[in-house]
Amino acid sequence: CRYKIASIPGDGIGIEVVEQTIKVLRAIEAVFNSFTLDIDTLDWSSKRYLEKGEYIPADGWQRLKASDAILFGAVGSPEVPDDVSLWNLILPLRKKLNQYINLRPIRILPGLSSPLKNCANGDLDWVIVRENSEGEYAGQGGTTHDDTPNTIANEVAVFTRVGIERTMRFAFEVARERPRRKLTMVTKSNAQRYGMVLWDKIFYEVAKEYPDVETDKMLVDAMAVRMVLKPNTLDTIVATNLHGDILSDLAAALAGSIGVASSSSLDPTRQNPSLFEPIHGSAPDIAGLGIANPVGTFWSAAEMLRWLGECAAADLLLRAIETVTANGAKTKDLGGMYNLAQVTEAVIVEVKRS
Ligand code: NAI
Ligand code: MG
Repeated sequence: CRYKIASIPGDGIGIEVVEQTIKVLRAIEAVFNSFTLDIDTLDWSSKRYLEKGEYIPADGWQRLKASDAILFGAVGSPEVPDDVSLWNLILPLRKKLNQYINLRPIRILPGLSSPLKNCANGDLDWVIVRENSEGEYAGQGGTTHDDTPNTIANEVAVFTRVGIERTMRFAFEVARERPRRKLTMVTKSNAQRYGMVLWDKIFYEVAKEYPDVETDKMLVDAMAVRMVLKPNTLDTIVATNLHGDILSDLAAALAGSIGVASSSSLDPTRQNPSLFEPIHGSAPDIAGLGIANPVGTFWSAAEMLRWLGECAAADLLLRAIETVTANGAKTKDLGGMYNLAQVTEAVIVEVKRS
């Protein structure tokens, strides 16, 4: 099998973690010797934007559409406003490639500990299904009376029946495949009475098709508390674009660090390539120091291999990551002494050992 992978390292530590991840992928390719990854590295970044005035070149969409998957680092630079970088690279990718699901598995890896007291490894094992195309990040809105004391800005959250229903169905399928068969739906349908109420309604409609999945509904503020106080009562979680974004950063921190968590932006119809990236950003505060945690990007690469159908390779990579964290090869954000290159080397050794 040959797979075409578009690699977009982006900015800051995105560049560093993707470079190391490609080394790990090359090691896996050599161990299996049954598939080839043709990796096309694209320099779509804030540096390119500052030089050429664009992130994505004219032939960019064609190149992406010809690929089987996208490996992404992070975008964001102190020299470009964050709304400009996000809306010129990562958000158009998710939207134009119909990646309407964002899947974020999170658990406490062996050897890591939660900042929560009394939270052992098995107590936090979640999958967050985040709606990835509409809601609060639909891009609808505008401003009037700009630069006057009367400026008005509105940001319109857009929810469609089609968008909600396909997200719910995806989430129920994920929950059904997990041992606890439990799905918690998050909204804020007390204060937000249109879109959020529609979410609630469609959740219970779709739930009827999945009588084997236990259902549970939470308001997002109470959900944040429950994640901290009773992590072991949760399993699969479905939330809107904004709520899913915030809760998954919290989830990653509770599992040890924002540096370990992966994020898959999926087109479940498989008509477009899906995109795999760590959940963290470009971390300008540590960029260039060689100390970024690569585990979130390694985990994303494992999810990418699974999506491509290379499940044995995905399992091997996840096991290698877990052995390495269990052995204490950890970066500074996890309280360890290893740098980025040393963690990568340790994972490659494990990959080769198997
Ligand atoms: P961030 O995730 O880049 O960093 C938050 C904090 O976590 C920082 O102290 C950073 O050093 C630390 N951190 C993040 N990843 C780490 C890793 N792998 N290893 C060790 N420590 C790590 O979030 P922040 O600072 O809010 O945003 C920085 C830039 O990244 C902004 O321009 C933002 O817009 C962008 N961003 C891009 C995303 C994407 O491309 N999908 C997602 C989130 C933010
Ligand atoms: Mg986020």
